[in-house]
Amino acid sequence: MSLLDLAPVVPVVVIEDAGTAVPLARALVAGGLPVIEITLRTPAAADAIRRIAAEVPEAVVGAGTVRTPDDVTAALGAGAGFLVSPGTTPSLLTAMVAAGVPYLPGVATATEAMTLAEQGVREMKFFPAEAAGGVGYLKALSGPLPDVRFCPTGGITPANARSYLSLSNVGCVGGSWLTPAVLLAAGDYARIEKLAAEAACLRTSP
Ligand code: 3PG
Repeated sequence: MSLLDLAPVVPVVVIEDAGTAVPLARALVAGGLPVIEITLRTPAAADAIRRIAAEVPEAVVGAGTVRTPDDVTAALGAGAGFLVSPGTTPSLLTAMVAAGVPYLPGVATATEAMTLAEQGVREMKFFPAEAAGGVGYLKALSGPLPDVRFCPTGGITPANARSYLSLSNVGCVGGSWLTPAVLLAAGDYARIEKLAAEAACLRTSP
């Protein structure tokens, strides 16, 4: 099964303290969101991925903000089960293809999506979704590029997520709203679980 079909929402997590990783992942899984993207933006990221991969087997943990081949190596070393990038360079794509785990290279235009499709890639992150044209842009791409599917990320909220999820070329959406820094700092995992449970219903509930 494709990464895009495992859950309607992929929480995008910026983690400052690796000690929060396991309870955070457990809360997201309990809420119904097993796919978790840990961004490689903080020194704690690799350790967080390592801990989740080791201690929360129900989670599918991957690395986000992957920008270089070295990032791919670091993510795989930590045990990342998938890779997500904000944009795509030739060397990054080569490293992602060779990684042996699912990957979502970032695109923001028709030309970028076509360039990846030429390389055989059919699943991509659309970033920054709202700023790059949002639901209207993605809907327009579904005509000429019906075989390409996206995970839009960047500016997705509980208010607009359902519109994205209703598109034929969107498998899931990504967003940081489920794991705000204030809840992580407070250790409010019950609230995170509740946010995850609400998000897990987005595709089906009216
Ligand atoms: C990111 O890489 O920061 C993601 O796209 C999350 O964006 P968001 O904070 O707008 O959800």
